[in-house]
Amino acid sequence: MSKKILILPGDGIGPEIIDEAVKVLACLRDDFGLDIDMDEALVGGAAYDAAGHPLPDATLDLAKEADAVLLGAVGGAKWEPLDISVRPEKGLLGLRAGLGLFANLRPAILYPQLADASTLKADVVAGLDIMIVRELTGGIYFGQPRGVETLDSGERRGFNTLVYTESEVDRICRVAFDIAMKRGKRVCSVDKANVLECTEMWREVATRVGADYPDVALSHMYVDNAAMQLVRAPKQFDVMVTTNMFGDILSDCAAMLTGSIGMLPSASLDADGKGMYEPIHGSAPDIAGQGVANPLATILSVAMMLRYSLDAADHAARLEAAVSAVLDRGLRTADIAAAGSKPVGTAEMGDAVVAALRADGEVD
Ligand code: IPM
Ligand code: MG
Repeated sequence: MSKKILILPGDGIGPEIIDEAVKVLACLRDDFGLDIDMDEALVGGAAYDAAGHPLPDATLDLAKEADAVLLGAVGGAKWEPLDISVRPEKGLLGLRAGLGLFANLRPAILYPQLADASTLKADVVAGLDIMIVRELTGGIYFGQPRGVETLDSGERRGFNTLVYTESEVDRICRVAFDIAMKRGKRVCSVDKANVLECTEMWREVATRVGADYPDVALSHMYVDNAAMQLVRAPKQFDVMVTTNMFGDILSDCAAMLTGSIGMLPSASLDADGKGMYEPIHGSAPDIAGQGVANPLATILSVAMMLRYSLDAADHAARLEAAVSAVLDRGLRTADIAAAGSKPVGTAEMGDAVVAALRADGEVD
């Protein structure tokens, strides 16, 4: 039976980069026999404008029915004045919570072709391959109580709550250990156990889970040190596992080690492997509509989708090889431009990946 993919373009550069990912999916379907059906729906600011809410019920229902969701990006200055409850970001958070996508996988890989794009010295980042496993449906992002209240004095008091149950920590740590078993067999659990009781418990649970994985070396690191180590000696890390907010911050940091946040995909998975896939970068309103955004992070998100939710590792490998071939040919969008490279726009980059896929198919 066909697998159902729900496409959510979102805001800013979202629709442009999604167009290229859809071209790639259509090529895999038409030329390589990938059995998929694609449907599209609104999310984020686009959904607010059309339906008054960043996550309309119809969109969440379609996402629940789908085998996988591909999302562009949400947000933009236009919607910043709105109440926080209906801002575009709530659409994304609502999808994560509504679909139970507790495990966020954010690889930071340095493509050898882009070694010069990093702001760090080449020898610090050459060969970098880190997987950040971020808890995505708990922690301070969702903890209650939360809000802003007015005290008797008239002063306002804002508050959010960092909260985790042991089972939430247990399941995200198991995801990290399972992934580590398939790669370098090292997990670094990042917390702030010296200050926050909640993450002191996190450390205890991580240690307990680690006992079930004797082949994996577990280390613990405070988040401030982890941020420093990521820019000092990032290759010491294999898999990092951490809370929702620490993972948000550390994954941006790790992404930039690779030179361009425009290259990095992500997967957000539930307990059964159903997932939502999106580039790590945001909606980049400053370049939206210009046709210059890098579609490769979204295209590589399709590769993660093929691997994790569609049981199509062969197609994933084929797609990753096509991206690598395009980089080998020197094609570069503005964010990864380098001396001597061939500057291309969003659509040209997507077309090049499709052409590389087809060329590879012919050689086979
Ligand atoms: C991310 C983003 C989101 C987050 C925002 C857009 C809500 O920064 O996916 O990292 O904070 O999780
Ligand atoms: Mg973020």
